[in-house]
Amino acid sequence: MHWAKNQPPVTYALSSSEVPHFALDRLPLGLADLELTGASFYRYPPLRDAIAEKEGVAPDNVVAADGTSMANMLALAALVAPGDEVLVEQPTYEPLLAVLGFLGAKLTRFPRCRPDFALDPEAVAGALTPKTKLIVLTNLHNPSGAYADEAVLRRIAALGPRVLIDEVYRDAAFAERPRSAFLLSDRFVATNSLTKVYGLSGIRCGWILAEPALAERIWRLNELFGVAQVHAGERLGCFALAHLGAVAAGTPERLARNRALANAFLAGRDDVECAPMVHGITAFPRLLSGDPAALDDLLRTRFDTGIVPGRWFGLADHFRIGVGGPTGLVEEGLSRLGRALDAMR
Ligand SMILES: Cc1ncc(COP(=O)(O)O)c(C=O)c1O
Repeated sequence: MHWAKNQPPVTYALSSSEVPHFALDRLPLGLADLELTGASFYRYPPLRDAIAEKEGVAPDNVVAADGTSMANMLALAALVAPGDEVLVEQPTYEPLLAVLGFLGAKLTRFPRCRPDFALDPEAVAGALTPKTKLIVLTNLHNPSGAYADEAVLRRIAALGPRVLIDEVYRDAAFAERPRSAFLLSDRFVATNSLTKVYGLSGIRCGWILAEPALAERIWRLNELFGVAQVHAGERLGCFALAHLGAVAAGTPERLARNRALANAFLAGRDDVECAPMVHGITAFPRLLSGDPAALDDLLRTRFDTGIVPGRWFGLADHFRIGVGGPTGLVEEGLSRLGRALDAMR
């Protein structure tokens, strides 16, 4: 995360995993919507209700959090004690490992295998031990964008341990209209936000879905981390959730177009291996020869373009590209990636 946040900006940011930012003032938003009275509101019920309605759960299943980042921190801190064994997918989103390291968890891993990185319940089952306290997943998968359907998720829930599932990319599988895994089984604790698919990272509207007793424990934990959230942010979260259709307008079509461009690009190269993108915003190609970190350096210095080297996800011969941006920028970014790959030969 520190690396990602400290790279000089590039024009063709295939390194980004978000859709373009959405300016909420394109919608009928007034200052009165923010309620700038100076007051803070404990567990602000209207936001909790709005998240519950979006996700199809009861309000007492919802804990609000500052983005999926804080949602993951709070949920994991409530679920994991020092020395607990936690089984995490490999490759995965690095901050999940960092939080677990911070909490003193003992990490074990199960593989998501290339080229499609599908979630395989057999692989999860094969890595369980009698001591596994928690399983940690992303769906859609970061970095690959792989989608696990309800049948797969039900098989994971049936394995026994609780499952933290980070769903920040879930809504990008527009065609599937996927529900939260939490609706399938309360073994799941799901985290999410309006960051990636709605382009609203700036309002930090995130949440956790959990069974009520656990949700209450997480709210109590949040009392150590700041008690209440920025109230104007809570109001913006309510506003965004009330207008989510308008916020996402055009996104499914743009992602479909961009994925098609990326698939055509990847299929036309003999120096990378990648399953076609079906859902989501990101893909995780393997570079068949050469170092993806060197490719990223070359792209940044000569081509004003960025990717994310796979070492940040635990697979150093891969790299992640994101295709959430405006189609013209994605198309040009892919063309520059092609030129950089040619130059590396
Ligand atoms: C899997 C995953 N979870 C969480 C986050 C962070 O989300 P937020 O901006 O809502 O904190 C990211 C951002 O890259 C991510 O990829």
